[in-house]
Amino acid sequence: MRKVQAMIPKTKGRVAWESPANIALVKYWGKQPVQIPMNPSLSFVLKKSVVEINMDYVIDPDNDFKIKKFTLNGKSSEPFSEKTEQYLVRLNNFFPFLKHTQLVIDSRSTFPHSAGIASSAAAFSALALCICTIDARINEKKGDGDEFMKKASHMARLGSGSACRSLYEGMVLWGETPLVSRSSGDHAIRLSDDLVNNAFMRLNDAILITDSSTKRVSSTHGHALMDHHPYREQRKIQSGINLEKMLAALAEGDFTAFGEVVESEALGLHGLMMLSTPPYLLMHPNTIRILEKVRMFREETAIPAYATLDAGPNIHLIYPETVKSNVLPFIEQELTPYCEGKRWIDDRMGDGPNRL
Ligand code: PMV
Repeated sequence: MRKVQAMIPKTKGRVAWESPANIALVKYWGKQPVQIPMNPSLSFVLKKSVVEINMDYVIDPDNDFKIKKFTLNGKSSEPFSEKTEQYLVRLNNFFPFLKHTQLVIDSRSTFPHSAGIASSAAAFSALALCICTIDARINEKKGDGDEFMKKASHMARLGSGSACRSLYEGMVLWGETPLVSRSSGDHAIRLSDDLVNNAFMRLNDAILITDSSTKRVSSTHGHALMDHHPYREQRKIQSGINLEKMLAALAEGDFTAFGEVVESEALGLHGLMMLSTPPYLLMHPNTIRILEKVRMFREETAIPAYATLDAGPNIHLIYPETVKSNVLPFIEQELTPYCEGKRWIDDRMGDGPNRL
């Protein structure tokens, strides 16, 4: 992407964005420099699991500001400040005005307190949108539209890879593949409507919390495990096959084929972790109990509800809106006993980020 070399004006203002988390159906696991995925991944954004960033800025080209103040839900937070600071340093190369900017950033999350769900995709996509909005303002460019979102997705990727998929509603693809034109490793794209049957436009995601503690394996460490993984090459091939099957299922409205890929990807991700050096077992006994219950429920009722997991023990149960009245009692009666404090989040497909 071209670096901006415009004049830096003396100005100040405020910008705020709310941006969602996303759940991957085909998983991103393993990367190459700089934050380019080892394989293409596909996801959709959530409605309730969002992060809001408020950013006050003062830009003065005659001043090299050192002052950056960060708060998380109104309180100072060491890990949040450290990650944000490192991220802004990365962005300096793309936005020369940042070196001359005093920033006060507050981040608010609607994620239930310690729900064990990663908020980094939501946070980095909201941060990227705020910085790109300031850039658009001072360079008198459009602060919306395709090019703006593409740039925001590219910048979000530099914070956390999967964050680049939080910029769009619908089904979102990140990573280059001959199967989809315009696909790229630099930024995500939204799959056009003709590629996705309406059956997949109103999905629910029941997030079943089996363990609310912080992730045992950071995604940075997890991706690095793929660098010398014995199944690295096989994973590239398998994820390509799964993506192809997933694209066909989405186009045809085939929920069974969709679900088979979703569960193969989730268990495949955990299989890769179990075969890493060192090996990790991130599922809990209750994760497995829920997976079994979901399989039995499907066999007994033929209702399309499929489970996926990220690099942790919590389950995302994905199902279409049309069967919600059947799935809700199943969750309440049969799955919540295996959740920590019976906690789960009734989330669903969202509409993407919102400028506030
Ligand atoms: O964006 P990262 O570095 O937090 O990696 C996300 C990895 C998974 O959540 C396991 C899979 C994915 O595609 O979101």
